[in-house]
Amino acid sequence: MARMDIAIDLGTSYTSIFVSGNGIVLHEPSVVAYYDTAKRPTRAVGVEAYYMRGKAPDKTKIVSPVVDGTIKDQDACAAMLGEFVKRVLPQSYIIKPKVHAVVGVPTGITVDERKMYEEVLMRSGVDDISMVNSIMLAGIGMELPVASSYGGFIASIGGGITEMAVLSLCGIVTGCSINIGGDMIDRMLTDSIRGIYRIKVDPVTVRKVKEKTVSLVRNDCETVTVGGIDIVEKTAVRKRLRGDRLYRAAYVYYKNIIDTIASTVNSCTPAVAAEIQESGIHIVGGGAKIPGLAAVVQEKLGLRVKIPQDSEYAAILGAGKLLSDRDLLDDILRHA
Ligand SMILES: Nc1ncnc2c1ncn2[C@@H]1O[C@H](COP(=O)(O)OP(=O)(O)O)[C@@H](O)[C@H]1O
Ligand SMILES: [Mg+2]
Repeated sequence: MARMDIAIDLGTSYTSIFVSGNGIVLHEPSVVAYYDTAKRPTRAVGVEAYYMRGKAPDKTKIVSPVVDGTIKDQDACAAMLGEFVKRVLPQSYIIKPKVHAVVGVPTGITVDERKMYEEVLMRSGVDDISMVNSIMLAGIGMELPVASSYGGFIASIGGGITEMAVLSLCGIVTGCSINIGGDMIDRMLTDSIRGIYRIKVDPVTVRKVKEKTVSLVRNDCETVTVGGIDIVEKTAVRKRLRGDRLYRAAYVYYKNIIDTIASTVNSCTPAVAAEIQESGIHIVGGGAKIPGLAAVVQEKLGLRVKIPQDSEYAAILGAGKLLSDRDLLDDILRHA
């Protein structure tokens, strides 16, 4: 039977799929729209479902099946992943290929949660699953020497959580995960926009405002014009928002993340701490794209910081690499 090797990064905000030999073939919001009837038939997934948010008729429900880094709605997740996997399979086949997938999972998931992931993946059309910690995948994606005696320090700022770890000898030496990510910043920004500009805006707009205008450079003054509802007049209005007025909302959360990086570094053994001082740290995930992050971390912690251009792809690229390095995959699975 034909066999197909794929990698899946199931993030709170985005799901990515890498197909061996083809690279990243899918990167879509982790969102499902379904009809609110007993069997919950799927109406749309990914980008299409994302842009239905705030506009869908009563009987269409929009859900994000992954919350704070973990699958929360198994049925919706299986429906979404099932559709994504179907899209990356060959256009036509007589017998469905046997699908092997390297799948990123959050650090510290329990045995029961592993079973639950397995079940959801099986329902999505994956036959054979290799689960690897997402933060390890991100390290591999950043080309860190994870199999050596010191692989590096990596932090990933995602939609629901921020994970960080010291990687060494194919495993995690020390690390932690906090429930701070883009979604929390979006909620804080929603409140700030309401407080400062007296308008209510929808979540899709808030995310756009964050990604286009908000920065950690204090006097950065990008602007964006958005539509919303005036909370006093209750009328539809358009307003021009300034990034520098929203700076504090994001800064508070990034400060928290930076403090957590500091305490993780400080909890390392002297040998590891010395390596970190020497080689610096890597920050990935969509949240690492905020302008000015590297400079703020460098200034506060005195560490060199590397942030790749397409920081949100680190984990899926790492998972993709493992598809063609079976020995490394086996070593990592053995030491997980
Ligand atoms: N320029 C930016 N500034 C701040 N946050 C950003 C920027 N670009 C993307 N993000 C945020 O990154 C998050 C998604 O990151 P990602 O690593 O893809 O998450 P996940 O892996 O959890 O799905 C979202 O909250 C998104 O708004
Ligand atoms: Mg991700």
